[in-house]
Amino acid sequence: MAEEAVLGYLEKNEEIRDSGEFATERGIDHNEIVNVIKSLHGFRYVDAQDIKRETWVLTDEGKTYATVGSPEVQLFLAIPPEGISKDELQKKLDPSVFKIACAQAAKNKWVEMGKQLITRKVQHVDDKVKELLLKIQQGLNIGSDEIKSLKARKLIVPQTWKGYSLKRGPNYAPKRKKVVTDLTRENFQSGEWKETEFKEYNYSAKGQPLEGGNLHPLLKVRSQLKQIFLCMGFEEMPTNNFVESSFWNFDALFQPQQHPARDSHDTFFLETPSTTKTLPEDYVQRVKQVHESGGYGSRGYVYEWKREEANKNLLRTHTTAVSSRMLYQLAQKPFAPKKYFSIDRVFRNEAVDRTHLAEFHQIEGLVCDRGLTLCDLIGVLHDFFARLGMTKLKFKPAYNPYTEPSMEIFSYHEGFKKWVEVGNSGMFRPEMLQPMGLPEDVQVIAWGLSLERPTMIMYGIDNIRDLFGPKVDLGLIKKNAICRLGID
Ligand code: PHE
Repeated sequence: MAEEAVLGYLEKNEEIRDSGEFATERGIDHNEIVNVIKSLHGFRYVDAQDIKRETWVLTDEGKTYATVGSPEVQLFLAIPPEGISKDELQKKLDPSVFKIACAQAAKNKWVEMGKQLITRKVQHVDDKVKELLLKIQQGLNIGSDEIKSLKARKLIVPQTWKGYSLKRGPNYAPKRKKVVTDLTRENFQSGEWKETEFKEYNYSAKGQPLEGGNLHPLLKVRSQLKQIFLCMGFEEMPTNNFVESSFWNFDALFQPQQHPARDSHDTFFLETPSTTKTLPEDYVQRVKQVHESGGYGSRGYVYEWKREEANKNLLRTHTTAVSSRMLYQLAQKPFAPKKYFSIDRVFRNEAVDRTHLAEFHQIEGLVCDRGLTLCDLIGVLHDFFARLGMTKLKFKPAYNPYTEPSMEIFSYHEGFKKWVEVGNSGMFRPEMLQPMGLPEDVQVIAWGLSLERPTMIMYGIDNIRDLFGPKVDLGLIKKNAICRLGID
């Protein structure tokens, strides 16, 4: 309908000066005309030029008055001929309009605002405001003074109206030619194809977007890291238990029971089941002893170790809990060197901010062999981080209850032009390894880092809540690039 109107009009006339007027005159919706013009312009049936006009539309308040009348008229009509007290009048009107109504009615000299009584000064009033608002709603023009006063009362706001003027284009025809997209059995057999105009191929058209699952950036970076560990000959540790006992998470790691990390302010403890069922009893005894009085060349912490503390269940605070289980298992068999890694979730009872959540992922690697030294640790860290694209490393002495020596790892970030902390590392203490039953000359070098930090740097995300949790934009997950670590 709209298309016929446009093409038909241009057959007899030079141009359509204003698509808006054209639409109103014919009682066609302007949006419909606009769609037709865009399509005809695309196929060059017409040449269309943009036109813009400032128009006015009603605000919500304006719309209300256009239906129920202006506040001043509502007020006027609420005053009986004998007058009314202010309080009584206020009760009759909507509280949100009372003040404006008084002000406007007084300004128009419609009412007398007496101390006792409010009375009418005139017999009859016209609701000009309502009339003007209705005119604007119908797209009719009103005087500039009136526009000013409605605008000042915030009953109308300007809006840019967009439309087109158009002339015939190079492909103009009074009717759109039907173009056929396919050569079919029917049009081929009937011979119709000879007269048919076929639509040209559009080689630059994009295909339909594919619907399918998408990997979260953390999972992309994780799979790359997994590849790196596997290339380096590491085996993955089973990390499928978020719930762990304090024993494996802390005690086995020679972390004293009064250590602040074991406070409920730092760790999530479980209410049900609140304690673990089984622990290897003879090993528990050796752990108790090393905490209380030492051994293996250590004095221990010299305090009374409590089994109830060790039994408490928690959400593991680090994947080193898994490492301690694995090393204990390793010690139960004749010794064989091992390289292990894990990448999984850990939980800490922390205040949430731009860089911290109460859960995150840890990457952990460890090498267990006879005669390893700090040099081996530094060497393996250089090898590992170089594969992530970090070649400049610095180490700083640090403290962990379960490692000695311990080192924080820093990497020079070329983009930020500064050293950034990328991980923590160390050599597990004899107080941890010997009670497990590992031979005396066996050392374990290990390191840990978060998965979130490198992922945020790589994907340019500066608020962790945009990466993980309920506020994550799913569109971003769908669109983000593949991850190739270490390749610029
Ligand atoms: N468990 C340490 C942490 O949570 C990381 C670490 C792992 C440190 C292994 C040293 C050795 O930060």
